Amino acid sequence: MATAKIGFYGHVRQYHNLKKEIDTAFFEVMESGAYVLGAKVKQFEQELAAFCNLKEAVGVNSGTDALWLAFLALGIGPGDEVITTSNTFFATAEAIWLVGATPVFVDCDPKTCNIDVNLIEAAISSQTKAIVPVHLYGQPANMPEVRKIAKAHNLFVIEDCAQALGARGDGFAVGELSDAVCTSFIIQKNLGCFGDGGAVITDHADMAQQIRKLRNHGSLKRSCHSIGYNSRLDEIHAAILSVKLKQLDQWSDRRRTIAKSYDEGLAGTSLKLPYAVPGYRHVYHLYVVETEERDALQAFLDSRGITALTHYPIAIHQQEGYPWGHPARISGSLEHTERSAARVLSLPMYPELTDEEVGAVIEAIRAWELTRTTKANAA
Ligand SMILES: Cc1ncc(COP(=O)(O)O)c(C=O)c1O
Repeated sequence: MATAKIGFYGHVRQYHNLKKEIDTAFFEVMESGAYVLGAKVKQFEQELAAFCNLKEAVGVNSGTDALWLAFLALGIGPGDEVITTSNTFFATAEAIWLVGATPVFVDCDPKTCNIDVNLIEAAISSQTKAIVPVHLYGQPANMPEVRKIAKAHNLFVIEDCAQALGARGDGFAVGELSDAVCTSFIIQKNLGCFGDGGAVITDHADMAQQIRKLRNHGSLKRSCHSIGYNSRLDEIHAAILSVKLKQLDQWSDRRRTIAKSYDEGLAGTSLKLPYAVPGYRHVYHLYVVETEERDALQAFLDSRGITALTHYPIAIHQQEGYPWGHPARISGSLEHTERSAARVLSLPMYPELTDEEVGAVIEAIRAWELTRTTKANAA
């Protein structure tokens, strides 16, 4: 029986693997005397834009703010509807509510768990302003279809890429078929800083400039202001993100290798395994399996020292008090979203996991399968 603890995150391991470079970057900032909107943020923004093959990146203080400020920059506000999915982290919809707009939820595709593009047109109304596909678990949504619908109805597209930096679709890159890409650098993301951070990446120079202004009290020039906010990416985070960005493709490759091991090791079990769309580069922010007996499996793994978590066990429209006096609309049924919420379990997934640990997770799940079969036979 596995006795070693297998945690859900590898943050400290990652830090130790890059300690020299990260410490150097950290102390450089400390000695520079420039801690807010200095050279490190500028440098990281350039590197991030180049990584995404887009012209501009603007660092802000979270993924939530990236979405919120992108919506503001596009003039989305009260009376406007924004189509998205309820099968996502809460912040996707929260940012829509923050600008006073109405999230319109459509169901997810049961295979990929991303927005079901076949349901988008039916959700469009005369108020619809934008579509926000979420690249859930690290796999891009069907962007060519989203783009086609958006073009036909003159809608903005903002990609929620908090979980999928470094991913690609079949013949398209993230950011290629939208107005902007919003991402998060909270520590647990594939590219994470030691705290909170986020960015908007776009080809639109005017949008980038507007977000630069909004993130800094409506100011692009000292002492000249309009209404804005304080949502800046810190120099320390930017310096560390520059170090880590160089590793991102390699880390994504390792995530994909681990996913392959899970796929092979868990094939033939009762679990629904993640579906990777052929030709897509899924970067497995999360490796999410589904089972009716999710809680029992989670408890069994925990008893073996393995931490598995749930993303997301309560869909946004199922949260207590929803929608808290704010406007919201559900288009059609959200049956696949609700089914997924009741069944999902995320297995440990980070580049620093060892092959032995991956093997131990597989072995534990196979042992759980045996207990199920034994119980079923005895009944
Ligand atoms: C899909 C998605 N959207 C938005 C966010 C919000 O990012 P942050 O936590 O940096 O505000 C997150 C992550 O936390 C996320 O996973």
